[in-house]
Amino acid sequence: MTTPKEQTPQQTNMPATATTARTTATEVPNIPRVPWSKLGPEFAMTWGRADPKDPQPEHMEILGISGSGKTLFCCKVCQERMIVRKTPIVMIATKPADGTIMRLGWPITDEPSKVRKMGWCIFWPRTRKTGTARKEYQRDRIQALLDYLWVEGSNVIVVFDDLGYTQSLSPEIRDTLEMYLREGRSAGITNVVIKQRPQGARREAHSETNWTVAFPPKDRNDLERFAELFGDKRTFMAVFDTMSPDKHEFLIKHARTGDMFISWIDTPLVPIDPPDQGKQGIGQYKR
Ligand SMILES: Nc1ncnc2c1ncn2[C@@H]1O[C@H](COP(=O)(O)OP(=O)(O)OP(=O)(O)O)[C@@H](O)[C@H]1O
Ligand SMILES: [Mg+2]
Repeated sequence: MTTPKEQTPQQTNMPATATTARTTATEVPNIPRVPWSKLGPEFAMTWGRADPKDPQPEHMEILGISGSGKTLFCCKVCQERMIVRKTPIVMIATKPADGTIMRLGWPITDEPSKVRKMGWCIFWPRTRKTGTARKEYQRDRIQALLDYLWVEGSNVIVVFDDLGYTQSLSPEIRDTLEMYLREGRSAGITNVVIKQRPQGARREAHSETNWTVAFPPKDRNDLERFAELFGDKRTFMAVFDTMSPDKHEFLIKHARTGDMFISWIDTPLVPIDPPDQGKQGIGQYKR
């Protein structure tokens, strides 16, 4: 991504607190602040095309505490990718309810074979069962989906709305997710993983990530770990201190180019009809 001309200078939206004072000695890099309505269209074009001669899936990691705006950002990015590139997308949801995901308006299923036909859908294994029985239900459905999608030239974006929880469902799912993160690219699979914090998820989740998106955490320990993902710890702690949780600002970085922006979703998420898949739809998959 290149920097749009509309960028505004670095500004501090956070109130001055004792904790911010501790980091003021660190020079804060001037990272462009650009609303997502300006960045999004170009991002949808370039995501997975860092080298236009050799386009490769690029995994994305989205980090932030509960309510920070992770799912909303993810839904916007996926919706834009659907419109601009028609890339099939399946979003795996595990919560009992999620008002943000529902605003996408995509069909909901827990049948792997329907995912290809739908093109854009929410894979949501919902059950009235509770406790262990609920987890077993989710485990079986999600494992079946991951096995189903694992084919040569799969050409799909798989979103894990809560990677930590999904990994905890079984050792087999954990191993399958590791395979998705490490080898998914070669199968044409783009992983988008949403997490509350960097720790607790395996190392592969970071080392294979091309795009890192993070909303500023409240806790100082979390802040250190978030900052380390972007570069020098002190520098990026200072960057996060300039960001506004009320505005749902996030930091986005491309690992290969080092491109970095502070942005926020500034347009509402409303359902948009999926494009006609035509010959690019179900017919193209090798099974
Ligand atoms: N940029 C924004 N502008 C206005 N409202 C926002 C913005 N980002 C998020 N919100 C609102 O904040 C709420 C929480 O957002 P979201 O569901 O994306 O959070 P989350 O990080 O996925 O939380 P959780 O970890 O609990 O799933 C939603 O009601 C959403 O509409
Ligand atoms: Mg969410």
